[in-house]
Amino acid sequence: MGLLEGKVALVAGVANKRSIAWGIARAFDREGAALILPYQIERFKENLDKLLPELSQPPMTIQLDVTDDVSLANLANALKERYDALHILVHSVAHAKTEDMSRRFFQTSRDGYHFAQDVSSYSLTALTQALHPQLVAAGRASVITMTHEGAVRAMPNYNVMGVAKAALEATVRYLALDLGSEGIRVNAISAGPVKTLAASGVKGISTALSATRDRAPIPENITTEDVGNAAVFLASPWSTHITGSVIYVDSGSHIVGY
Ligand SMILES: NC(=O)c1ccc[n+]([C@@H]2O[C@H](COP(=O)([O-])OP(=O)(O)OC[C@H]3O[C@@H](n4cnc5c(N)ncnc54)[C@H](O)[C@@H]3O)[C@@H](O)[C@H]2O)c1
Repeated sequence: MGLLEGKVALVAGVANKRSIAWGIARAFDREGAALILPYQIERFKENLDKLLPELSQPPMTIQLDVTDDVSLANLANALKERYDALHILVHSVAHAKTEDMSRRFFQTSRDGYHFAQDVSSYSLTALTQALHPQLVAAGRASVITMTHEGAVRAMPNYNVMGVAKAALEATVRYLALDLGSEGIRVNAISAGPVKTLAASGVKGISTALSATRDRAPIPENITTEDVGNAAVFLASPWSTHITGSVIYVDSGSHIVGY
């Protein structure tokens, strides 16, 4: 029997087969969870449709824009029609304007700052808010988001996304404090670099990948499967009293001081 048998899990953020969210979805499927997989745009739905045969049970799919309250309400209504409770919510979503990821940090625009915060940080609160009744109905629920070391250290080129991730990690702590008495845990996974669509928007991703291989305690890059397995732990009863935490899946890079 899988660790997540009988659980309903929503995993937001599959754009294609390289997405961290897809690694998480596959791991959850392997462990027996029923999946809801939102997609942002039609092109990503086409990618998703091609991936679905890899899953053991067909997921529910639905369009979702995390910056649009109507879209979030539609998701909540569609979910309510099909399931009484949501046991696991994964937020694997981020975006910033290309220009804010390529120019110097001090040149970040007001608009670009707000955009990055809205999509990459506030969206965790927005999703949790929209799906709160179903999370409470689960009795014990687990919310998981994806962050990066750029939240706590100034990383070259990570810029406005690092600031958004800092806000995201603070959001994890405040949501955890707020929702703990309702049985809802909230944690983040801080992943090392992975070549994905979002990562291709960060200048120097190849340098980050080779820096991990050169300097991390475990001199290997991580995989989306690694993140999926960590997410299974955070979603499962094995982590019942872990909340408000950031778990690093980065081959140990963050502990190295040079
Ligand atoms: N790839 C890495 O090196 C790395 C490292 C650490 C953390 N992360 C984080 O992991 C998460 C997933 O990114 P990824 O690397 O798998 O890239 P990805 O491009 O595969 O996934 C990003 C997802 O965000 C979604 N998204 C963006 N704007 C949205 C919106 N308005 N509404 C709904 N969805 C929206 C996209 O559709 C996409 O599915 C992000 O939070 C990212 O910051 C990535």
